[in-house]
Amino acid sequence: MRPVLWLAPVAFAACTPATAQPDRTAEGKQAFATVHAVFLHPRCRNCHPAGDAPLQYADGRPHAQNITRRSEKNGLPCATCHRDKNGTRPNQPPGAPHWHLPPSDVRMVFEGRTPRQLCEQLKDPTKTGGRDLARLITHVQEDPLVSWGWSPGPGRDPVPIPRPQLVDAMKTWVASGAPCPD
Ligand code: HEC
Ligand code: HEC
Repeated sequence: MRPVLWLAPVAFAACTPATAQPDRTAEGKQAFATVHAVFLHPRCRNCHPAGDAPLQYADGRPHAQNITRRSEKNGLPCATCHRDKNGTRPNQPPGAPHWHLPPSDVRMVFEGRTPRQLCEQLKDPTKTGGRDLARLITHVQEDPLVSWGWSPGPGRDPVPIPRPQLVDAMKTWVASGAPCPD
């Protein structure tokens, strides 16, 4: 323990409001880098595309067979091929309960978002399906499609950052005031 660190605040206490908190902005921005890295990972990005087609593989090419947001309306639901569980061999359809894209009117795009853009978007409930920051954390902790990112079936790399580390990063970001990177 270095006593000088303890003495300094006492000396200046009279000038500082009693409620002053340490500035955690830098810590929050750094935590958001982890959030961005996971959300832009192919296992997440491929279902959060900028365009109309879901994406495939590490390179994020548009889904084969002209699958788009409109396929379901045109009589080809995702569940025709994507079941509740992953296929057992590479190149078989991956699966998890209720496999689908975000709705056309709230597209929840991650593909191509810079850290700042993603950060602003996640703080805007009109772009998250009405979720506030607390519910975004719950979604990331519990949603089965999010879970799939860590068990994507044979032939696909899982998200390399452990899920608890992502959740911790989101909590740190929120607790520090949800600052957005520059
Ligand atoms: C199979 C497609 C699919 C995969 C894979 C997927 N998501 Fe999603 N995601 C969705 C859908 C659909 C919604 C909208 C759910 C709703 O609003 O009920 C959603 C919503 C979200 C939301 C809440 C809203 C928002 O704006 O962000 C977050 C956060 C999210 N996903 C994160 C992830 C992360 C992180 C991964 C990867 C670990 C991931 N998703 C993988 C389909 C997917
Ligand atoms: C005709 C069958 C079929 C339909 C319908 C279909 N898919 Fe797929 N999908 C596949 C197959 C097969 C793969 C696996 C390709 C591979 O790994 O080689 C796949 C892979 C994917 C992937 C890639 C996962 C990853 O990270 O690599 C996503 C995302 C996806 N599909 C989303 C959807 C969505 C959303 C729908 C509905 C709008 C849908 N698919 C409809 C057959 C289909």
